[in-house]
Amino acid sequence: MVIPKHVAIIMDGNGRWAKKRLLPRVAGHVRGVKRVKEIVEHCSELGIRYLTLFAFGRENWRRPKEEVSFLMNLLSEQISKEFYKLHEKNVRIRFMGDKTRLSHAILGQVKDIEQLTSNNNKLNLNIALDYSGTYDIVQAVNRIIANSPTQPITEEIFSQYLLSYPDPDPELLIRTSGESRVSNFILWQLAYSECYFTSKLWPDFDKRALDSAIEWFNSRERRFGMTSEQLKK
Ligand code: FPP
Repeated sequence: MVIPKHVAIIMDGNGRWAKKRLLPRVAGHVRGVKRVKEIVEHCSELGIRYLTLFAFGRENWRRPKEEVSFLMNLLSEQISKEFYKLHEKNVRIRFMGDKTRLSHAILGQVKDIEQLTSNNNKLNLNIALDYSGTYDIVQAVNRIIANSPTQPITEEIFSQYLLSYPDPDPELLIRTSGESRVSNFILWQLAYSECYFTSKLWPDFDKRALDSAIEWFNSRERRFGMTSEQLKK
C-alpha cells in the first residue's frame, strides 16, 4: 500500500450533520473538531508526512457573525489545548492564510504554536485559516513584484512564493459531504492531485474512512501526462 506523502482535506458537512439531528449548526463544528483530532493522529500513525486542513476560508467571513465567532473560539480552544499536546507528539504546526485579519489574541496563539513546533518533524500539519487558493496566488505575485520585478518567472520560482512552500504538493485531496468542488482551496498545488469526493459528512469521517480514501488512491494510475505504456517501462 502506497501512503501518500501529503494529504489535503476540505472538511465539509458539519452544518448538515447537525441539521439532520435537529441540532444547531455549531454542534456540527464541535463534532468536526473531534474528527480533526482522530484524523491527525491516524495520519501520524500511517506515516503521512504532510496534512493540510481547510479550517476557515476567506469567504467564510460571510457567515452569520455568531457562527464566525464560534469557529474562532473553537480554534483558539484547540490551539491552547490540543495543539500543545500535538507538540509532544512531534507535530509541526503551520497556519496558511491572510494573518492580517485575525484577532490579536488568535494571531498571538498562532505565532506561539508555530514557533514552538517549528523544529518538529513527525507530521507537518498545515491549517488553512482565512485562506483561499486565489488569495495565495495573488499574494505570491505581489511578493514577486516587490522582490524582483524584472526577473523572468518560472513555475519553480513561482511555487516558492506560495504559502505552502516548501512542502511538496498533495498527492491526494479529500472532500467530504458529497460536493465535488474545490471551493477556492489550494489551486496551484492541486495540479496533479488525485481528488476523492465522499458523501460522508465531516463529523462522520473517521479513521476507517481515511483508510478507504487511501485504498482508492492506491487504485489510481498516476500518469503525469504520460501514457500507461511509458509508465510500465
Ligand atoms: C464546513 O462545514 C466546515 C467548516 C467551514 C469549518 C471546519 C472547521 C472545523 C472542523 C473546526 C476547526 C478546525 C480545526 C483545525 C481545529 P459547513 O459548516 O460548511 O457544513 P454545511 O456545508 O453542511 O453547512
